[in-house]
Amino acid sequence: MNIMRVEAKERPIDTETTDALVLLSCEGEGLPKQDGAILDRALGGALRQLLQSKEFDGKAGEVVLFHTHGKIPAKRLILVGLGKKHDLGLDQIRQAMGYAVKRVRQAKSVAFTVALPSVVPQGASPIDVGQTMTEGAILGSYQFTAYRSDAPTGKEVKAMTILAPQKDLLRQLSEGIRRGVATAEATVFVRDLCNHPSNVMTPTKIAQEAKVIAKETGVALKILEQKDMEQLGMGALLGVAKGSHEPPKFIILRYHGAKKKDERPVVLVGKTITFDTGGISLKPAENMEQMKADMTGGAEVLAAMRAAARLKLPLNLISILPAAENMPGGRAMRPGDVVKTLSGTTVEVQNTDAEGRLILSDGLAYAMQFKPAALIDIATLTGACVVALGQFAIGMFGTDATLKEAIRKAGLRAGERVWEMPLWEEYFEQLRSEVADMRNIGGRGGGMITAALFLSKFVGDAPWVHLDIASTDWSERERAYIPKGPTGIGTRLLIQFLINRSL
Ligand code: BES
Ligand code: MN
Ligand code: ZN
Repeated sequence: MNIMRVEAKERPIDTETTDALVLLSCEGEGLPKQDGAILDRALGGALRQLLQSKEFDGKAGEVVLFHTHGKIPAKRLILVGLGKKHDLGLDQIRQAMGYAVKRVRQAKSVAFTVALPSVVPQGASPIDVGQTMTEGAILGSYQFTAYRSDAPTGKEVKAMTILAPQKDLLRQLSEGIRRGVATAEATVFVRDLCNHPSNVMTPTKIAQEAKVIAKETGVALKILEQKDMEQLGMGALLGVAKGSHEPPKFIILRYHGAKKKDERPVVLVGKTITFDTGGISLKPAENMEQMKADMTGGAEVLAAMRAAARLKLPLNLISILPAAENMPGGRAMRPGDVVKTLSGTTVEVQNTDAEGRLILSDGLAYAMQFKPAALIDIATLTGACVVALGQFAIGMFGTDATLKEAIRKAGLRAGERVWEMPLWEEYFEQLRSEVADMRNIGGRGGGMITAALFLSKFVGDAPWVHLDIASTDWSERERAYIPKGPTGIGTRLLIQFLINRSL
């Protein structure tokens, strides 16, 4: 997908020539101040009439389009509701922009202009507003058509202009746009990777994607092949990969942006299972196709790496992707098999479908050599996460209060919220094994917790956060700026965290 061009301009609203002019307006607040009055006069009272007749009153998700018949240079006016003023947050702006861009596309316009909302969320800066408007527009227009012969071409919305009422806002708005393009582009990249089917998006293909990024941004790239993993002793990752004909890859990208060269890095580890059949502990057929997105975590840490390098963030960052396919082949791991992880800990594999924690254990153990200032893993780890949190929260666990707070803040700001779960040692009794140091499943109850606790055994004393995105990585229905299918949720949280850390 080509990313929409976004720019900010200072120009009076009634002189703007465009296919579609978008106005964002809060519920029950009447006409947006200034802009609304100016336009209403130019349109001979049409706006006021619309509000009075209650055909539009600014409810969240409400959209009205009408033609201006030459009364102003903008051909069409699109009013989009932001909902009640006291509920207005940055995500409401994102959502309104998602609805707006879909309406623009429906009207077959390829470019549009939008006025800055006259009401903004409390405490939001013009940078924030510019960023969220950009994110909503780009993410709301996302479509994945790579394999469709009937894909409409040349009809996508190509450009958006944000109108600033005063010149002194332009610099901040442009900075917001720059950030918004970066986070939205990263999310689009993740959605694309997750949408591609697993016969295309293999571990080898993901390694190639990493190569493209390394070449384009200059970040350092190292790819460990199967024989390297054998030499190092990554028995857990190798065990998972054994049932598949696709060779596993262990991908490490390193970006040095910190002023102090030896500053300790942020290390991101992403679960990269390119397809999860469950292995010998085979999954039921229903919805199994969704397991093509079991590499979402890996795609997200790859995207975060690319964004950090492009934004030239002043920090050191390492992204690690343990990549494999979980298949029930003739050489596949069996329930009861014992594997030796990179850290030396032995694991009894009681269920081959609990493969994410296995590959992550080697990923996390590998990360420890970099002495991370912050270690974050992100994974579509457990069905229990979906049961516990539904679709609107990422499960968070961690060992460091400051890091957890920073992640929580970044999630809130990005509109990708996390909810903390307990990482209490008591649960570890569920992971005890008769034959090895631990087993890879925790039995009934607290499935998301025992998975996290399993991971915690591989992070030493590093400040660590684990994010379970099984709840949010796939959407059952289309929303304002979230498509049906892979969502890329988590990407903007990671990038926002890195941006905040750089400020
Ligand atoms: N990739 C799945 C988790 C998942 C489920 C992600 C649904 C997205 C939607 C993971 O590898 C898995 O299979 N987990 C098992 C663990 C169990 C065997 C302890 C699960 O949750 O069923
Ligand atoms: Mn699984
Ligand atoms: Zn999985």
